[in-house]
Amino acid sequence: MGAPCVSWHDGAVTSVLNDSPFVRACRGQEVPHTPVWFMRQAGRSLPEYRKIREGVGMLESCRRPELVTEITLQPVRRHQVDAAILFSDIVVPIAAAGIDLDIVAGTGPVVAEPIRAESDLERLRPITADDVDFVAESVRLLVAELGSTPLIGFAGAPFTLASYLIEGGPSRTYLKTKAMMYAAPGLWDALLSRLADITLSFLRTQIDAGVSAVQLFDSWAGALSEADYREHVLPHSARVLRGLADAGVPRIHFGVGTAVLLDAMGEAGADVVGVDWRTPLDQATKVIGPDRSVQGNLDPALLFAGWDVVRREADRVLEQGRAAPGHVFNLGHGVMPETDPDILTRLVAHVHEASAR
Ligand code: CP3
Repeated sequence: MGAPCVSWHDGAVTSVLNDSPFVRACRGQEVPHTPVWFMRQAGRSLPEYRKIREGVGMLESCRRPELVTEITLQPVRRHQVDAAILFSDIVVPIAAAGIDLDIVAGTGPVVAEPIRAESDLERLRPITADDVDFVAESVRLLVAELGSTPLIGFAGAPFTLASYLIEGGPSRTYLKTKAMMYAAPGLWDALLSRLADITLSFLRTQIDAGVSAVQLFDSWAGALSEADYREHVLPHSARVLRGLADAGVPRIHFGVGTAVLLDAMGEAGADVVGVDWRTPLDQATKVIGPDRSVQGNLDPALLFAGWDVVRREADRVLEQGRAAPGHVFNLGHGVMPETDPDILTRLVAHVHEASAR
């Protein structure tokens, strides 16, 4: 059968993971120290990542379970972070759903034929666990390797995925995305419903294979007003997050530039709301309310300002995070590729030490 020596079905392992500082902080329970991980902790900031990725395309590397396992483990070994995040990308499930796309280095996802009309929707079919079997296999391998360190699964939220599908690639203005949202609400809802179904299946696959938490990335939701977010986006994200309520794993919901959306993103069905560097965590928690933890939010650019600044600002983030029922330390967005990885290692040690109780 090739069953891994440590299986997530093993009650003892599950209870160790449920008792990890990361999962406890997500649930607003007491922790021995504030847990810390970094969005994009695996990736180009690590020389060992650049080496192992040589000559292998991004999408291709996401489809090779042994490679995914090694890349996911690299930052855990190096930095001693409190959680691993599956190495994958938000466009992996939409590629599995039949969309012709590529991830171009230095640019991001590029879609060959963008979705602009009702007839384009046929190219986005539902996915089954079989379409992403390499993801389930990667999660199983990782859970066996990680032991007491929890693994975070993730997916892109319907709005952020739709923005890539409609624009055809990254965008600053989201002109075509917003035009569809305002001018063709029927098509918009049909597209986001399909994306919600795909996202739900993708996250279910990861949960069934053993991840300890999931993060829904609505990275670009900050382009919207609260009213538009509530009307056109929240119902679809809520279908994903609420659809996982029975799974028993913490749900983290994150976006950039979302100061006016934080309470709505919590209401969509998150246990933890990710906050970027623009909003202090004590202010964020006032808006989000006492029932949800927060994650964040050191400015990733600060990591270029020298250790004294990093330490001072990390202490401020820890202090402001104490206002929330639970705090998971993170950056306010992903690690930049030029970041000195030694600063990240030092930051993890500092967060652990400064928050020890
Ligand atoms: O360690 C981790 O955080 C897990 C890996 C991860 C990747 N993508 C790997 C990746 C995660 C969580 C993502 C999510 C993702 N992908 C998001 C949401 C998170 C966010 O940053 O807001 C978004 C918007 C994408 C789309 C995407 N994919 C972008 C914008 C890029 C960057 C393009 C570039 O080259 O700068 C990618 C490519 C990508 N995804 C890379 C990695 C490590 C870089 C490609 C490479 O290393 O060759």
